[in-house]
Amino acid sequence: MAEFDYDVIVIGSGPGGYVAAIRAAQLGLKTACAEGRETLGGTCLNVGCIPSKAMLHASEYFDAAANGSFAKLGIKVKPELDLDTMHGQRKDAVKQLTGGIEFLFKKNKVEWLKDYATFTGANTVKVGDRTITGKNIVIATGSSVIQLPGVEIDQKVVVDSTGALELPKVPQHMVVIGAGVIGLELGSVWRRLGAKVTCVEFLDQILPGFDGDVRKECNKIFKKQGIEFRLSTKVTGVKVNGGKATLTLEPAKGGAVETIEADCVLVSIGRRPNTEGLGLDKIGLTPNNRGQIETDHEFRTSVPGIWAIGDVIPGPMLAHKAEDEGIAVAENIAGLTGIVNHEVIPSVVYTMPEVAGVGLTEEQAKERGEVKVGKFPMLANSRAKTNHEPDGFVKVISDAKSDRVLGVWCIASVAGTMIAQAAQAMEFGATSEDIAYTCHAHPTHSEALKEAAMAVTGKPIHI
Ligand code: FAD
Ligand code: NAI
Repeated sequence: MAEFDYDVIVIGSGPGGYVAAIRAAQLGLKTACAEGRETLGGTCLNVGCIPSKAMLHASEYFDAAANGSFAKLGIKVKPELDLDTMHGQRKDAVKQLTGGIEFLFKKNKVEWLKDYATFTGANTVKVGDRTITGKNIVIATGSSVIQLPGVEIDQKVVVDSTGALELPKVPQHMVVIGAGVIGLELGSVWRRLGAKVTCVEFLDQILPGFDGDVRKECNKIFKKQGIEFRLSTKVTGVKVNGGKATLTLEPAKGGAVETIEADCVLVSIGRRPNTEGLGLDKIGLTPNNRGQIETDHEFRTSVPGIWAIGDVIPGPMLAHKAEDEGIAVAENIAGLTGIVNHEVIPSVVYTMPEVAGVGLTEEQAKERGEVKVGKFPMLANSRAKTNHEPDGFVKVISDAKSDRVLGVWCIASVAGTMIAQAAQAMEFGATSEDIAYTCHAHPTHSEALKEAAMAVTGKPIHI
């Protein structure tokens, strides 16, 4: 009889866990994946990337019809919102994609253990009423919303991202607490559908972690679209009464208190790793002071046979990072070499225009040494101009001596697609000259990346 029930048990079926399970099974390992949710796919497929993009896509068309963008193209329409159908297509997308993972599990012979898992000892987990053993156990339990102390999320008036995806009617005034990725994406959805949106941000600028130029320009663009930003401001309390919320605001550094009213409050102040209730104490694993499980570059934790990936470990909380770690951990378990280059993980905000970046910000690059920067405005890109998409720019940052590209930042309607090229160039160790001398199809938004690379040496053509 085999020493263990499974070669690999994966805990959690988000983009980290399901990908790890499928790759492990593809490599011939007997694999099971525990998932307590009713459907597979984790945060990303159920309440994150996919449903938010379904609402962003639909609301973008509504906005284009309502704000005169279609009229500029000679298309006259008077849009009428059918929110139920919009929610219906969101639910369909989630159903199809989560069902797709179930199909892939069956196809690859990954067993779905349908409950939450808890460690009961080394190599042993309890899933529902079953206790099973695994030679290797991968923790891929993801993350959950951070709550604001004293502010209760009722998913009616005060919502988190999950509640904000499902609002049954358009709020009159939505106050978003936190002008990060979720605040801007979901704030944009409801602004486009007719809500007044105010974003209250603790820091002095929106979009933490992004390049400084990008953060400033985004502030202007989203303000022009109608989002009001209250920067350097903290929310100290939210009281709900009769379907209305009263928020108490204060300058971040302290000072005069004021109140504002809203009929919907979105709390989007970040996410924290899911380690509670996992029984980590039973295996002697202690999360770090940020609640994350530390691993080495092969995704091994400090406990032999226990691995961890995705939002539960340090690094950006992004689905594609989790997926790549899922592949790498399975390959390492199988004795192959699984590597993720954490220096080159692109990040995209799916607003209109999209905002994307990879590698170092200009501020980070300058801390490490001398840099050269090339910038090119989308206004001077023929395709963006033709499509009436003048906002944004592409910025290439390279090492002053070697010219090696250190970071690329981009605000453009298709920035999320454009950034893949920059990531690939950086993965191959490209210089700005390599990008500048690569032939780009005309007319495409991507030509702006080529011209930004040309601008690093001061020689773009179209400005
Ligand atoms: P998760 O996707 O969180 O999955 C973990 C799973 O583990 C969950 O299903 C949970 O039920 C399960 N689980 C937890 N504990 C246990 C247990 N003890 N036993 C069994 N199962 C357990 N990222 C992007 O890259 N692009 C985007 O566009 C994007 N949009 C987002 C939009 C929103 C609104 C949100 C909230 C997030 C978004 N993200 C996006 C982030 C992305 O969803 C996460 O980075 C990604 O899902 C992390 O994957 P993961 O596998 O680590 O964990
Ligand atoms: P975030 O970290 O992007 O932004 C949170 C913001 O809230 C920060 O700007 C922070 O300064 C601010 N904040 C914190 N406490 C505050 C307070 N008390 N008052 C006012 N502001 C406060 O977190 P967010 O938007 O919740 O997203 C969580 C994670 O989900 C992100 O880390 C991101 O990686 C992931 N995500 C990714 C998406 C994408 O890739 N397109 C989309 C949505 C989420």
